[in-house]
Amino acid sequence: MRYTTIGEGERALEVSTLALGAMYFGTRTDEATSFAILDRFLEAGGTFIDTANNYNAWVGGHGRESEDVIGRWLAARGTRNQVTIATKLGAAQKDRSKPLSSTPPHNYQGLSAQVVDREARESLRHLGVDRIDVLYGHVDDRDTPIPETVGAFGKLQAEGLVELSGISNVATWRLAEAHAEARRQGVAPYAVVQQRHSYLYPPPVPPRTNWVNADLLDYAAAGGVDGRTNVTVVAYSPLEQGALARDDKPLFGGSDSAGSRARIRELRAVAQELGATPSQVALAWLMGGEAPALPVIGPSSLDQLEDLLGAADLDLPAEIRERLDAV
Ligand SMILES: NC(=O)c1ccc[n+]([C@@H]2O[C@H](COP(=O)([O-])OP(=O)(O)OC[C@H]3O[C@@H](n4cnc5c(N)ncnc54)[C@H](OP(=O)(O)O)[C@@H]3O)[C@@H](O)[C@H]2O)c1
Repeated sequence: MRYTTIGEGERALEVSTLALGAMYFGTRTDEATSFAILDRFLEAGGTFIDTANNYNAWVGGHGRESEDVIGRWLAARGTRNQVTIATKLGAAQKDRSKPLSSTPPHNYQGLSAQVVDREARESLRHLGVDRIDVLYGHVDDRDTPIPETVGAFGKLQAEGLVELSGISNVATWRLAEAHAEARRQGVAPYAVVQQRHSYLYPPPVPPRTNWVNADLLDYAAAGGVDGRTNVTVVAYSPLEQGALARDDKPLFGGSDSAGSRARIRELRAVAQELGATPSQVALAWLMGGEAPALPVIGPSSLDQLEDLLGAADLDLPAEIRERLDAV
C-alpha cells in the first residue's frame, strides 16, 4: 500500500492511496461481510474509508446504515486511531415523502448552514466518533450562497468537530470560488474534491459537472503554487461499477459510447498482457501518471477486495500508459 498527504499545514493527514467505499455496507452488503472487508482493507495497509449520510437510501435503507456499520466496526475493533473517516452530507432526502433523485428535481437537503451543522453532528453520533476526519458537501448546492456553506464548514472546523472539508459533484469554477471565499473568511479551504472518474472519458452531456475533467486536473496540478490551495482529486466509481472488467455490468450515467467500448477493449487487452486484471490496471492508471487521483473502491466481497488490493503497488510501464491514453 502507498500513502499520500491530503490537506496542508497543521491539518495535513496521511491516507492510503486507495480508499474503501462503504456505500453498500449495511444494505446490499451484510454486516458480517462489511466487517470482513474493513478488516482485510486495514490489514493490507488501507487507512482511508468513505461513507455518507444517505447510504444507501435508494436501495431501501434509511440512509445511515453505512455510517452505523462503520461506527460498530470502529467500536468492536478499537481501530479509530488507525483510520481516516470521510463522510458526506447534503444529498440525503429533504422531503422524506418524495423520492431521492440524481436528476432534477433532486429533493436534496442542500448545503445551508443549518443542514451542514445538523447533519455533521448526526454523522458524529452514527459513526460514534468525536471528530470527522473529512467532511464533504455531497453535491454542490447552487441555491445556497457559497459564503454560507463555506462558513458552516469553517465553524465545524473551528469547533474541532471536523478536520478537513471537501466537496463532491461540483464544477471546477464553483470549487475555485469556494477556495477564494475560504481565504476571505480565513477558514480552511476544501482540501479534497470527489468526482466520478475512471479510465473512460467523461460524457459531454449533463451531469458533466459530476465528473473529473481536464479542467479540474489542471486546477489540482496548480495547487500549492503561488499560494494556491492544494486539493486532492478523489475518484468515485473508478471501476464503472464493475463494467470495466465485466460484461454483465452495464455502462451507466452517460458513459455508454463507442469511445468507452474501445477503451474497455484496450484496457482488457493490456491487462491480459501484463498478467493483471482490468480492474487493477484501471486503478493503477488513475493513481499513476501526471494527474493522479485517489480511487474509492467499492468491493462487495472479499474476493473483489483481494483483486483490487493488487492495484495498490502496480506501476504501469510508460509505453502501456501511452497506449491506454491514445485510445
Ligand atoms: N460522491 C459521490 O457522489 C459518490 C457516488 C458514488 C460512489 N461514491 C463512493 O465511491 C465508492 C465506490 O463507488 P462504486 O461502488 O460506484 O465504485 P466501483 O468500484 O466503480 O464499483 C463497485 C462495484 O463494482 C463491482 N466490483 C468491485 N470490485 C470488483 C472486482 N474486483 N471485479 C469485478 N467487479 C468488481 C461490484 O459489483 P457487484 O457488487 O454487483 O458485484 C461493486 O459493487 C462508494 O462506496 C462510495 O463511497 C461516491
